[in-house]
Amino acid sequence: MSEQLLDYQSLWSRLEEAYDRIAPIYNDHAESHRHAGAEALSAVLQQRFQFDLPGVFTAAFDLGCGTGHCGRALKQVAQKLAGVDLSAGMLRQASEQAAEYDEFIQGNGLAVLSERTGAFPLVAAINVMQLVEAPDMIFKTICDALPSGGVLIFNADVNVESVDNVREWRSGHYRFSPNYIAARLRAAGLALLYCHFYDDRLIDLPGGERQPVRSACYMVQKPN
Ligand SMILES: C[S@@+](CC[C@H](N)C(=O)[O-])C[C@H]1O[C@@H](n2cnc3c(N)ncnc32)[C@H](O)[C@@H]1O
Repeated sequence: MSEQLLDYQSLWSRLEEAYDRIAPIYNDHAESHRHAGAEALSAVLQQRFQFDLPGVFTAAFDLGCGTGHCGRALKQVAQKLAGVDLSAGMLRQASEQAAEYDEFIQGNGLAVLSERTGAFPLVAAINVMQLVEAPDMIFKTICDALPSGGVLIFNADVNVESVDNVREWRSGHYRFSPNYIAARLRAAGLALLYCHFYDDRLIDLPGGERQPVRSACYMVQKPN
């Protein structure tokens, strides 16, 4: 594993533990959030590949596949689909519920991708980016592992009201400004192809109010 990935070792361990605990209730607990992410992925794929969806990619890599909600949308465009997750508990649910995957791998998806450089022309990371404080390392690792012309689709919670990145007080999820995401993508060498904004889940605010979270699903490409 690269030094950069090792720096994040405590985050990966915490996520593995947390999602192992959440796995049995994830589908009920994350109902709206989960569907919004998978639907946004589907919308972006439809928009970009509406005339040649089936099997347009030889292989896709679902980074942080969880219980497998993105399997159906990804298998539409990929001949082979690998689902990778830190949590054995989440993968257990996926293997029972999501028949679209050809392969499941337990482990850090970024390390697995680095070991299989060039093997996956499509990488998806849905509902993963809000777990990290800064996406640079993820963008850079994925860009290095993609073949030229390869595509990454990911979503992120966005703060459209200001240029600041914020952290939700309750869930601890990170929300980035769109300008910040654009700058971090450029720094990693990824070119923006398409971006779809949508309303994600409702969150509780201090004082009992509820507010929708704005999210964006991005399709980006490693230039040829
Ligand atoms: C909020 S869930 C999303 C699951 C699924 N993509 C969905 O949209 O329903 C986040 C998942 O990402 C996994 N994850 C986060 N970082 C990861 C990494 N570096 N490698 C593999 N899995 C990761 C977690 O274990 C968790 O199962």
